[in-house]
Amino acid sequence: MCGIIGYVGPRQALPLVLDGLRRMEYRGYDSAGVAIQSEEATLGVARKAGVLANLEALIDTGEVALPGSTGIGHTRWATHGGPTDRNAHPHRDSHGKIAVIHNGIIENFAPLRREIEDAGIELTSDTDTEVVAHLLAAEYNSGQAAGDLPGSMAAVCRRLLGAFTLVAVHADVPDLLVAARRNSPLVIGVNSGEGEMFVASDVAAFIAHTREAVELGQDQLVVITPQGYEVSSFSGGEPDYREFHVDWDTDAAEKGGFEYFMDKEIAEQPDALANTLRGHFDGTGIVLDEQRLGEDELRTVDKVFVVSCGSSYHAGLVAKYAIEHWTRLPVEVELASEFRYRDPVLDRDTLVIAISQSGETADTLEAVRHARRQRARVLAVCNTNGSQIPRESDAVLYTHAGPEIGVASTKAFLAQVGAIYLVGLALAQARGTKYLDEVERDYRTLSEMPAAVAETLTMMDPVRALGREIADSKAVLFLGRHVGYPVALEGALKLKELAYMHAEGFAAGELKHGPIALIEEGLPVVVVTPSPKSQPVLHSKLLSNIREIQARGARTIVIAEEGDDTVAPFADWLIELPRVPALMQPLVATVPLQVLAAEIARARGYDIDKPRNLAKSVTVE
Ligand code: F6R
Repeated sequence: MCGIIGYVGPRQALPLVLDGLRRMEYRGYDSAGVAIQSEEATLGVARKAGVLANLEALIDTGEVALPGSTGIGHTRWATHGGPTDRNAHPHRDSHGKIAVIHNGIIENFAPLRREIEDAGIELTSDTDTEVVAHLLAAEYNSGQAAGDLPGSMAAVCRRLLGAFTLVAVHADVPDLLVAARRNSPLVIGVNSGEGEMFVASDVAAFIAHTREAVELGQDQLVVITPQGYEVSSFSGGEPDYREFHVDWDTDAAEKGGFEYFMDKEIAEQPDALANTLRGHFDGTGIVLDEQRLGEDELRTVDKVFVVSCGSSYHAGLVAKYAIEHWTRLPVEVELASEFRYRDPVLDRDTLVIAISQSGETADTLEAVRHARRQRARVLAVCNTNGSQIPRESDAVLYTHAGPEIGVASTKAFLAQVGAIYLVGLALAQARGTKYLDEVERDYRTLSEMPAAVAETLTMMDPVRALGREIADSKAVLFLGRHVGYPVALEGALKLKELAYMHAEGFAAGELKHGPIALIEEGLPVVVVTPSPKSQPVLHSKLLSNIREIQARGARTIVIAEEGDDTVAPFADWLIELPRVPALMQPLVATVPLQVLAAEIARARGYDIDKPRNLAKSVTVE
């Protein structure tokens, strides 16, 4: 939600800032803007509603001069105030000396706004961010830290409630940016060799220039200059930061010949899964990435909650089947946004697994905090090194899916399923429900799945053709049983968000309890079918469900294991998958549903990387 970048160094800032914004546009595309500090102690500012290309067109007119080697940029996902030019960041104080960009929500902005208006200042936008520019100017001009930009920013931050990453530049303070964060992401990019520094929401913004990064803890303030960075706490604690090396490069953040990032990310799924699984069995058992939990603490777990949102929630639903089966522990999967408001029963023997691609999702982060306050242990499954959710967890397993730029989750989802299966095996071993050789055997089976996903990808041409054929449908239903049920939910979510089409996923057994009334002549219904060999009972029940909907006029799209001859007579379209063990089926069955949604959206003329109204990471509740 909102991407921010700042640069100080010897080069012209504008092209670097624009390039960083291009790489972060997935975080929001309601407006974009830049502010560049000139050598004449002025700020050049350009802002434009809509996608980054609109801002670039404005800059190309040459109406605003933007020379200078210190600059900031912002791409917005609107919260306070509509997606208009006047609400686009950066926001300035009344003298145009200070420019501020912001990601997050300032919860006490209404009283602060009144205070500014009472002081006779007219605000020019509807945003919560603009109040920061005015408060900062007041502090800098006549507050206790007058003339000290970092000190003034710290004083302002102490007055703010909510979530924020802020970056500010002052026309009269050359070669310096000050940034602060609470509950929203901010990383520093260090390119000491070139005497240049970056701050950004995401390492993707500066990965083309440096892979040396610094993550910042809560309530931290950082000053960057061409000479380096200095971190302090604006709320009085010790400086809290960690340097790290980014283990992927700029190629990973490019489209690499694909039309969309999402196409590339679908194709990258075998690697994403393989990289996530690799090296997590060391001969004595499953190894997590960051383990701040003792063996004993895993052994005494008596209940598991999985908390997450959207596709990550569906990954949790898939995992429930495996974890319960392997560990005999009760597993509840909960939407993070509901979890902490219903007073769940938690104690020190509860393990809460938080799944988040971004590591920033506000609801999931708050669920983690709630769980820890109740003394539960928290294990994070996360794709983003340096993000907040792993920082606040007792153990971490990273999904090494690489950067996911397409807003809809694809490779991150598959990697999450793989990672949480590893957690299930680690728990089974700790609790003694699996012997070491069984854990090793299951790990080997899991490690064969990247090849099965690769094979699935070679079978997608009929799915693309099908997508084009049904692109005009009004709605599509998705059915599944057992692990096929969360796969059906994920398929429906992909279609909703990419193709803006009504789509619902149901447990096939629920059909007769209501949803069957939706079936009408010609309605496409996707059915994720279990294996006739490994799940014969479920298979025959699903076959009955297919016959019931076909009898009522639905067009059936049957996703089934290769060689399953029994379903063919009831399938208007048959999509085949490689044969894999029952619990592994989601890893292959999700792929055609991703491809189908992407193809329908493409046929309907939509940008599949940037679905309307969405942003990649949801840092507000
Ligand atoms: C859907 C999608 C979202 C995310 C959800 C959670 O395709 O991408 O539903 O899965 O917003 O995000 P993370 O995993 O970053 O917490």
